[in-house]
Amino acid sequence: MTEIRDIVAIDGPAGAGKSTIARRVAEALGFAFLDTGAMYRAATWWAMHEGINLDDPAALEKATSEMDLDLQEDGGITRVCVKGHDVSDAIRTPEVTRNIHKLDRSPGVRALLVELQRATGSRGPTVAEGRDIGTVVFPKAKCKVYLDASIEERARRRAEEFTRKGLAVDIAEVRADIRTRDEKDMTRAVAPLRRADDAHVIDTTHMTPQEAVDAIVALARSAWSGR
Ligand code: DC
Repeated sequence: MTEIRDIVAIDGPAGAGKSTIARRVAEALGFAFLDTGAMYRAATWWAMHEGINLDDPAALEKATSEMDLDLQEDGGITRVCVKGHDVSDAIRTPEVTRNIHKLDRSPGVRALLVELQRATGSRGPTVAEGRDIGTVVFPKAKCKVYLDASIEERARRRAEEFTRKGLAVDIAEVRADIRTRDEKDMTRAVAPLRRADDAHVIDTTHMTPQEAVDAIVALARSAWSGR
């Protein structure tokens, strides 16, 4: 399974622009798109919905194995269904976001989701984004990218997203939340966020999304043409 190669792996911290950029790269290359964060979000939503004790790793693993997750790309968004409920919006609430770390540090939960991710990636050329794609999920990916941006810029983008959705934002709070997530993502014992040794670093702080897309598409084209 770890031999799956037809993958563009895009990792990076929260707010670096991964989803938007990765989806557009997939479109440009004609590849499938896989948002692995949506899987951790769906598992968290399901555990909360079922009233599972989030501090009980065995119960979280059991719930994850039973959630009947289905992801479908639909007009530029990932439709996420859990046991037939469409949770595409519900998985993006601050309550879910705050609890994800209870699941994403569980080796059992990760093993189940990584297996699903590999099954998806084995169906054909795929752009996959997350935290451990180039390091753990698809270590043989032909093209690996680590997308980064300054914390100020990531907070600004997140705040803009909330404002667009009509939600009140306190930029200092958004920045603090991002800092906490960075720390949790980078310091957890299993599959922490880190740049794979062979990943290209792209700092998007001063780039438009399209510039980042163009840079990744160029890297992917040269990887696939064997140059
Ligand atoms: O990319 P996102 O914000 O939707 O991801 C939500 C959380 O899921 C993120 O804080 C860490 C976790 N995650 C992970 O541990 N491994 C992945 N491959 C993707 C996401």
